[in-house]
Amino acid sequence: MFLIDSHCHLDHEPMASDINATLMRAKEKGVKGFLTIGTDLSKIPLLASIAENNDDVFATLGVHPHEAEKTLPEKELYKVLTQESQHPKMVGFGETGLDYYYTHSPVEIQKASFKTHIEASLECDLPLIVHTRNADEDTIALLKEVGQGKAKGVMHCFSGNAWLRDQALELGFYISASGILTFNKAEELREVFKHVPLERLLVETDAPFLAPIPYRGKPNEPAFVVETAKKLAEIKGVEYDVIITQTTQNFLKLFSKARFSCV
Ligand code: NI
Repeated sequence: MFLIDSHCHLDHEPMASDINATLMRAKEKGVKGFLTIGTDLSKIPLLASIAENNDDVFATLGVHPHEAEKTLPEKELYKVLTQESQHPKMVGFGETGLDYYYTHSPVEIQKASFKTHIEASLECDLPLIVHTRNADEDTIALLKEVGQGKAKGVMHCFSGNAWLRDQALELGFYISASGILTFNKAEELREVFKHVPLERLLVETDAPFLAPIPYRGKPNEPAFVVETAKKLAEIKGVEYDVIITQTTQNFLKLFSKARFSCV
């Protein structure tokens, strides 16, 4: 079995100019599957080419809540998302969601964009990658209202509380652990993860951001997801191998369009 980094940004530097070596370092550590995440429609051709050029790299389509203000109106956005998702290596929608911590885009515009991603996800039967920060209640409300209990996906880089965890689990969502889980001050978050069932866990780097300990402060890269998986094994009181097998199975179940050469 092998690990899958369920959320990285291979189009960001320093990875973008050194993708082969970046993927090679990951593979040496047993990280053999990669999902590179869309943040803006202008990135679609680049992400598609990264995925086309690398066997076990898949990509997603989406507008990050920070970029929502700069994107297309709802109808056009819906059209682009649903059309581009026909690409064989585009396997999900996101990252989308709500960010009231930075509020780089006005709240109503973020909501409209999130709603459009949820609608596209239902139409195309592809999962959502949800980013939520300081917006727990509105995020869950939109997933319920627009998603009608049918939308599926992952709460990426989860750093929320027990309430958000339970709501997400009730909706059938997966919870993704990032490098934050290894931080000294993340004691509460580790407690929250104790009660996420194994069959709902994913792991990610969010590279180049949020490198786990002992790489904190360096640019993150997919190879480092190993540290998060090891921490997760410690928190859940299971062998590291169990985390590898389980998170990979979970990923394959959620992102069922992704077909890996190494499976
Ligand atoms: Ni991200």
